[in-house]
Amino acid sequence: MTHFLDINKTDAPALRHMIDHAISMKNARADRPKGQPDDEQPLAGQMVALIFEKPSTRTRVSFDVGVRQMGGQTMVLSGADMQLGHGETIADTARVLSRYVDMIMIRTFEEQTLLEMAEHASVPVINGLTNRTHPCQIMADIMTFEEHRGPIAGKKVVWSGDGNNVFASFAHAAGQFGFDLTFTGPQPLDPEPGFLDEARAKGANVEIVRDPHKAVKGADLVVTDTWVSMHDPVSARERRHNQLRGYQVNAELMAKAKPDALFMHCLPAHRDDEATSEIMDGPHSVIFDEAENRLHAQKAIMRWCLGV
Ligand code: CP
Ligand code: NVA
Repeated sequence: MTHFLDINKTDAPALRHMIDHAISMKNARADRPKGQPDDEQPLAGQMVALIFEKPSTRTRVSFDVGVRQMGGQTMVLSGADMQLGHGETIADTARVLSRYVDMIMIRTFEEQTLLEMAEHASVPVINGLTNRTHPCQIMADIMTFEEHRGPIAGKKVVWSGDGNNVFASFAHAAGQFGFDLTFTGPQPLDPEPGFLDEARAKGANVEIVRDPHKAVKGADLVVTDTWVSMHDPVSARERRHNQLRGYQVNAELMAKAKPDALFMHCLPAHRDDEATSEIMDGPHSVIFDEAENRLHAQKAIMRWCLGV
């Protein structure tokens, strides 16, 4: 079974193929109305379950539209309305869903839920975000970088802020796509060391630099994300703001990166917290290209999973 669970669990040549395929599929439909089907209909007759245990705008809509453009059908399910994990085991839900649908995308809290779903499903399972990682987002981000600046291999990516699930997938990608990755943030919000060690073991140059102004020197790409993720307690908000204020991506910080550096944020954003609106709407920003590319990258991921 070909699942897409994480960037570090997928072969580098397969990842490369997916990015290139996503760009070619995007180009093939340039200027078409979004509701118009693709010329190729590789998902014709296939049903995809999209399960959400957390809120979502981009993941929900981009997967739904992507499946339909490729001729398939979707079923969007809220975890709260299912027996998932409370009325029955994840394993039994996986076995049952596999009798009805051809592929499952799940956004959940614990990574264990995703892994159990994949272990017991007899159809491909795609990670639509867990507390630990967000691989579909970073596939869209690599695609976006390469569309604007060419190959990401050898480039310097700087993450400023919380060492969260989105950062973790950037660390996976640094190892697989061969770019340098610098984390800058306060020590209590450091990423799990295992993510950095694994990227280093694959040859990536990964470092932690506490001073954000030093960290962004020579950056080709500056990235941030919300300071409080969906799985974080709301009570952490004020403390996080105090810890992270100095890591805001603003004009002063961005000026230390390369003049043609890109700025990314997976969205949703708390404008003027982790990044100023001046940066988010300014010339470095490619945030809405990232959002669009979720659609194209995930179409390539789904085709790879299904082998179509
Ligand atoms: N970036 C992202 O995954 O957005 P949503 O939470 O809206 O899906
Ligand atoms: N780190 C954020 C990403 C949202 C797409 C979260 O997990 O809430």
